[in-house]
Amino acid sequence: MCYDGAMSQLVALITGANGEIGRTLLERLAAEGRYRLVTLDLTPLPERHRHLCQESYAGNILDRYLLDQLAAHHEIEVVFHLAALLSTRGERDPELAHQINVEGTLHLLRVAQQQTQRLGRAVRFIFPSSIAVYGLPDLHTKALAGRVKEHEHTVPVTMYGCNKLYCEHLGRYFSTHYHATGHQSQAPRVDFRALRFPGLISSDTVPSGGTSDFGPEMLHHAAQGRPYTCFVGPSATIPFMAMPDAVRALMLLLDAPREGLTAPSYNLGAFSLSAEAIAERVLRAFPEGRITYQPDPMRARIVDSWPEDVDDARARADWGWSPLYGVDRAFDEYLVPAVRRRYTK
Ligand code: SER
Repeated sequence: MCYDGAMSQLVALITGANGEIGRTLLERLAAEGRYRLVTLDLTPLPERHRHLCQESYAGNILDRYLLDQLAAHHEIEVVFHLAALLSTRGERDPELAHQINVEGTLHLLRVAQQQTQRLGRAVRFIFPSSIAVYGLPDLHTKALAGRVKEHEHTVPVTMYGCNKLYCEHLGRYFSTHYHATGHQSQAPRVDFRALRFPGLISSDTVPSGGTSDFGPEMLHHAAQGRPYTCFVGPSATIPFMAMPDAVRALMLLLDAPREGLTAPSYNLGAFSLSAEAIAERVLRAFPEGRITYQPDPMRARIVDSWPEDVDDARARADWGWSPLYGVDRAFDEYLVPAVRRRYTK
């Protein structure tokens, strides 16, 4: 690591930069060139992504010393806090999930708040939350619920979902109530903004440890001619989104004028698909693939607890959200051609 030349440049800090969203977001931010990019991830970034950054830290989000060091050396203007332990992985070690997802977020909010006071203007803290904050008790209720609104059915069944929901509150607290009494009551506060992603599908990365992973896993297996055993049944249905739309949403929310935001966290929709419908699209494009179903009770239960679809009217009204990739465009113009290129190189 080297720190020279870093002091006067506005920086976007991206945690979890080596993850599913992180890599695409890095490329987008680097192309725009608005910020110097500083990243933090448990694992070192590959060379081609490291080159896009001013500084890449390999370390743990729970390492307070590292975070303080990072804050001391960079003028952080924007934080994209992507680091998290996903829902299936979180069920295997709920306490670790809580540490990473909640304590990690708390540490980072503290750093962002300190930076806000140091810079004298609100650091924008962009937080990807998830459909995992919802918890439908059974399939009948799920069918009746249809497109859920932000305040409905927020009774998550996973540690990850509980963590995301709580961190939405934590962010809201930091941005509106932190030190509301006492001598710092007039100090500027961090500007926290959250969006709830559906399952994401990328042509470049396959997520690990999530429960919406059956979508991307089907695609990437079939494209390589590998058989895939799906861990949910054919009728399991949740909303999905193509990765370019996810990154676009992060940028739109970042740039949205503060006064137009009426909620601390926003639903985002694109298209809703059953496992069977994804399999049909994937096999149409890659007939050499083979998909069978062997539902895992724990993972199937999680997917059944997530809504079939979400109502994203508020994001549309407040900051102009609208997906560019409906289901046909997502598969025909993005996923299928890009995945085909990727595996035939
Ligand atoms: N994709 C996440 C997961 O499956 C949900 O946000 O855990």
